[in-house]
Amino acid sequence: MKFISVAIDGPVGAGKSTAARECARRLGFVYCDTGALYRAVGVFCVREGVDLSEPKQVAGCLDRIKVEISLVDGIQHVFLNGEDVSEEIRLPQMSMAASAVSAVPEVRKALLGIQRDIAEKNNVVMDGRDIGTVVLPNADVKIFLTAKPEIRAKRRYDELAKKGVETTFDEVLNDLNERDYNDSHRAEAPLKMAEDAALADTSELDFEQSVELICGIVRERRDVL
Ligand code: DC
Repeated sequence: MKFISVAIDGPVGAGKSTAARECARRLGFVYCDTGALYRAVGVFCVREGVDLSEPKQVAGCLDRIKVEISLVDGIQHVFLNGEDVSEEIRLPQMSMAASAVSAVPEVRKALLGIQRDIAEKNNVVMDGRDIGTVVLPNADVKIFLTAKPEIRAKRRYDELAKKGVETTFDEVLNDLNERDYNDSHRAEAPLKMAEDAALADTSELDFEQSVELICGIVRERRDVL
């Protein structure tokens, strides 16, 4: 059986995870947040005190890392060597750690199979940075989701404030710009729009409108498939 795959890529805070998750729910597809995999590798390295600016040190950890994702009550959980680290990966310091480890080619290679395997076995909405370009180059639908940096930072800031994380808007904006720069300038699988992706800008849209925009693109593309 051929499953349908929807690849959603874009920069930090474009609303990928929230909008893509809801879009997957409405379509009845599995949602896969691939950033969680890089974050789990980041958690391992931070715990072990690995120098994240040393790609060799990061790559050297890989044989001690087993990352798995599975659905618990329909929600994606990520496991690091059998331990559920779904909450820890969301700590702000893990964002930068994930961005650093994701630039290491060996890390990307190690996580590729897990992602492709999910798409081979499910109708999936998968989000990340290189889904439409590298992980699923033959995805049925490709969307590049973005929004103006200040708007993305404001959304991220509100999200963190709601969780009680102490930070400032400027800190969030700087962090976001730094991560976007790293993610789009690395040599291996940098963040970029696939040639055959639809561009979706959510700067002026609220959550519901963003979800509808994505679902609309998917429905439109599926009709012509
Ligand atoms: O989507 P996120 O913020 O949870 O991703 C965390 C980091 O992981 C991000 O800064 C870059 C990296 N990443 C990646 O390189 N490729 C992906 N497909 C997903 C995430």
